[in-house]
Amino acid sequence: MKTYKVAVIAGDGIGPEVIDEGVKVLNKIAELDQHFEFDFTYFPWGCEYYSEHGKMMAEDGIEKLKEFDAIYLGAVGFPGVPDHISLWDLLLIIRKEFDQYVNIRPVKLLEGAHCPLSDVKREDIDMLFIRENTEGEYSGAGDWLFKGKENEVVLQNGVFSRKGTERIIRYAFETAKKQGRSLTSISKANALNYSMVFWDQVFEEVSEEYPEVETASYLVDAAAMLMITDPKRFEVVVTSNLFGDILTDVGAALAGGIGLAAGANVNPERKYPSMFEPVHGSAPDIAGQGIGNPLASIWSASQMLDHFGYEQYGKLIIDAIEQLLIEGQTLTPDMKGSASTSEVGDRLIEMITTNSRTVNV
Ligand code: NAD
Ligand code: IPM
Ligand code: MN
Repeated sequence: MKTYKVAVIAGDGIGPEVIDEGVKVLNKIAELDQHFEFDFTYFPWGCEYYSEHGKMMAEDGIEKLKEFDAIYLGAVGFPGVPDHISLWDLLLIIRKEFDQYVNIRPVKLLEGAHCPLSDVKREDIDMLFIRENTEGEYSGAGDWLFKGKENEVVLQNGVFSRKGTERIIRYAFETAKKQGRSLTSISKANALNYSMVFWDQVFEEVSEEYPEVETASYLVDAAAMLMITDPKRFEVVVTSNLFGDILTDVGAALAGGIGLAAGANVNPERKYPSMFEPVHGSAPDIAGQGIGNPLASIWSASQMLDHFGYEQYGKLIIDAIEQLLIEGQTLTPDMKGSASTSEVGDRLIEMITTNSRTVNV
């Protein structure tokens, strides 16, 4: 029996509520397979931990996480702790320390999911965002000079290393090549006259190694517009940390809502654990009510199964999510339903169990 050791950082707000459902789904998949199991270890880190201990995670937190096969994270950040502290001292530091430089975020409109655009074909919204995840605008470097004085100046530095830029673009080309799809680069060289000029140059250079991959390149402002007016242009997309953050929320809106948007923070070399988490945050406005949509965190769990090499189970989960959306009976309020978080998880597990009989498990 193979055992996968998964560190669970449920985090803040609706994090623990939605993560519970993902854990239930993962355990069900393991039970159906019978050849592997999950060993979940829960770490109580987050804003409550901060109010007790004055830090977001244990001093040796990163050391502790190193021994796991994966990390499953809910959400981080809650009113009461400044966001730049809560996020930098937990989520962002994990992405950086574990060199999870690829953030994979599918933007795919499943059947039954609601797209706010009126005249769009379902198959036209099928993008795969590959977001640089460890540097760029999120370098964390900057300065705050003459604080509170009349001549106050704040600097926030972007860092685009040759290594960091090349590897994310190469990863995106490899993905596009494997999938037989086009690759779009999104940047902003007209205004960001160092970082994005460099990004575009590296994209050009690497593209020469992949003559079989069709490419396009857009400025980020135009890309945001085109995602709404002509989404089918975008297949595999590679972009910087900040642009990827913003555009994947646009993508979430196109593909059925933030409650459905999933992401994987991957260290492709597998030197460190990868981390799976929904795109959304802690949703303080609905936290504690048991109505957070668990489908994004469950979709992220399916990405974890893909990562472990069980693509058939990843697909089993996505197919069940689609079936649940089509059925439309057991959905949370953000999807105009009246079900609770756990009712959605339970119904999904029923569907997975039924469907597994027709899948080769
Ligand atoms: P948010 O994603 O938490 O919420 C935005 C809106 O979407 C809210 O109205 C919320 O109720 C709704 N929403 C989000 N997820 C939902 C779900 N699963 N089901 C139903 N509705 C859902 O974004 P925000 O309000 O900007 O941020 C809240 C906190 O979360 C902040 O502290 C922020 O820094 C943090 N945050 C964390 C992450 C993360 O941990 N990966 C991501 C984004 C934001
Ligand atoms: C995300 C989030 C994070 C990010 C925040 C919470 C730091 O918005 O994962 O999309 O910007 O990467
Ligand atoms: Mn975001």
